[in-house]
Amino acid sequence: MRRQIVAANWKMNGSSELVRELVPAIRESAVALDNAVEVVIMPPSLFLGGVKSELSGSGLSLGIQNIARWQEGAYTGEVSAGMAADVGCDYALVGHSERRQLFGETDEVIAEKVARILESGLKVMLCVGETLEEREAGNAEAVVCRQADVALKGVAAADARRIVIAYEPVWAIGTGKTATADDAQAMHRALRTRLSALGFAADEMSLLYGGSVKPDNAGALFAQPDIDGGLIGGASLKANDFIAICQAAKA
Ligand code: 13P
Repeated sequence: MRRQIVAANWKMNGSSELVRELVPAIRESAVALDNAVEVVIMPPSLFLGGVKSELSGSGLSLGIQNIARWQEGAYTGEVSAGMAADVGCDYALVGHSERRQLFGETDEVIAEKVARILESGLKVMLCVGETLEEREAGNAEAVVCRQADVALKGVAAADARRIVIAYEPVWAIGTGKTATADDAQAMHRALRTRLSALGFAADEMSLLYGGSVKPDNAGALFAQPDIDGGLIGGASLKANDFIAICQAAKA
């Protein structure tokens, strides 16, 4: 059985107050998930310590949204994977389309970050996804497979259990447009086949879907055989919505 995972990517949203209100509410409701779903909270880095305190003893996981491609040194403003591990993170997110598009992160930079995450003992949550232009040109699958190929080049097969991949079609992020459950399933299937060809135990790897996941569409998406949970943006900032999405992953 693959792990079902629902991760909250707060992006650059939130405050100390939100940490104090939202995290205990999620923690309380997560008890009903009976450990059938791994819940991961990914706040802005400054709030990692606060979220960690609120999660203490809960079994919920913590993730950082981005890390540097170096481990330490004269890189003003950067935070390393080793530091994320030091403050108690379980996961590091990498390859998000916002980082690719707004910060110019290439597949090669993302591969370096994947290496730093693994050498720090954290788990990788790698985002892949095509733009609308790429989809309309019929290149969606090729783009997603290339992103996975490059990011995971050099990763040992034994590390597969520390890699989670989130398929996030760029055109579905924050737009209210979701991929249909069938389209998302088709991409997840293609990705799993590719991971297998790369030598990973793909059947044991959790593949998440992200992009306008809401309580009313989560059930249909998570019911697909190759969709093992979700990476949630906007809806992760509302306790009731996020909890309903976590429940849908359990069903
Ligand atoms: P939305 O759920 O707001 O579309 O964001 C998805 C996302 O980018 C999560 O990483």
